[in-house]
Amino acid sequence: MRIIEQLESEVRGYVRSFPAIFDTAKGSYLWDEHGNRFIDFFAGAGTLNYGHNNPLLTKAVIEYLERDGIVHGLDKATVAKTKFLQKFYDTVLSPRNLEYKVQFTGPTGTNAVETALKLARMVKRRSNIIAFTNGYHGLTLGSLAVTGNNFYRDEFYGMRLNADHMPFDGYFGPDVNTIEYLRRFLSDGSSGIDLPAAIIVETVQGEGGIHVASDEWLQELEQLCHDFDILLIIDDIQVGNGRTGTFFSFERAGIKPDMVVLSKSIGGGMPLAMLLMRPELDQWKPGEHTGTFRGNNLAFIAATEALSYWDNEDLAEAVAYKGQIMEEELTRIAEKYADLEVNVRGVGMVWGLEMPRTGFTGEVLTEAFEKGLVIETAGADDEVLKFLPALTIEEETLREGMQIIDQAIGDLLKKKEEMRTGDTQ
Ligand SMILES: Cc1ncc(COP(=O)(O)O)c(C=O)c1O
Repeated sequence: MRIIEQLESEVRGYVRSFPAIFDTAKGSYLWDEHGNRFIDFFAGAGTLNYGHNNPLLTKAVIEYLERDGIVHGLDKATVAKTKFLQKFYDTVLSPRNLEYKVQFTGPTGTNAVETALKLARMVKRRSNIIAFTNGYHGLTLGSLAVTGNNFYRDEFYGMRLNADHMPFDGYFGPDVNTIEYLRRFLSDGSSGIDLPAAIIVETVQGEGGIHVASDEWLQELEQLCHDFDILLIIDDIQVGNGRTGTFFSFERAGIKPDMVVLSKSIGGGMPLAMLLMRPELDQWKPGEHTGTFRGNNLAFIAATEALSYWDNEDLAEAVAYKGQIMEEELTRIAEKYADLEVNVRGVGMVWGLEMPRTGFTGEVLTEAFEKGLVIETAGADDEVLKFLPALTIEEETLREGMQIIDQAIGDLLKKKEEMRTGDTQ
């Protein structure tokens, strides 16, 4: 760890939350250099929906490397790319009657977001973009402008330009329809909000603290976009790829966004990001938006293999089943520690346990880590414990992880009580 502390920038984050030197990983387990085992409820922030080193994916990648398959190809045609596109069309797009064109962007999520925003502005000839409170879309400057949390933003970056934030579903509680609120702003030429080229939204806000938009809200948002000629961009980077139970997270609402951004689990753990767009929006000139690492061939190989999980309904059924276990377990924990006024939110296999007591969530994270569980916090003040296990996690491991959380909260409360009574004696 000394070399990391000596050389790696102060910006490092997760190494502070999880102070171990990790070495190997398989499925839903991580091992550190001393052989200590950890259950992974973090899954690379949604990158490892198919688990660490999924044997199907690893085998395909090793075989590809061993036969000297092209690794770096810019956006040249490769066998790996054609196979991926065919598989994506056959398994994902065609069965859902989606006629998107596919653009491979630079390899991380924010690259896809930047591309979507740039194209939307180009096509609509408008510069404003509307995003939502608590939204998270990445940290390069364009994506940052549509990200809510001001921990990441600073006035110096000029971040207020060309982006407005509006209240997400439920922001003012269950009784305020925030789409009506937005509609009022857009209808009034004197509201100070310019007609945007696009609205970008997550159907379930991951980093923002597991806020789930209702189906009706998403449908009303789509209608509003039609009414005002605004492009609807769904950011499915964290909660796409089956996380909510269907391949795309918006399927439950029956909407068809104009653009979708995908990354994280689409590459099965390898860097890959994509923009999907309605064909008429594909107005780029050849080479107008490029990047050296567009379309990583190793990721295509892993991604093609990962998509075989969508050849049938097995994974979707498993997500529904294990999602229910997560909901039941978290509800049980919330009831057991009712004094903490815990709030449970989620859908599919993305769940949040909001614990309003200041700093408590971080303490649970640390206690759980000491007991062998890796889990992340989310929300504006890190007040939410975010449950994001691999979709392929075994039921037994899932239950074991939930048990660790239960024990971590119980032990923490006990320690606090002991300190309190110790203090008063
Ligand atoms: C919804 C969403 N969009 C965009 C991003 C940015 O992706 P990346 O960190 O790969 O740039 C993230 C990352 O967590 C995300 O959750």
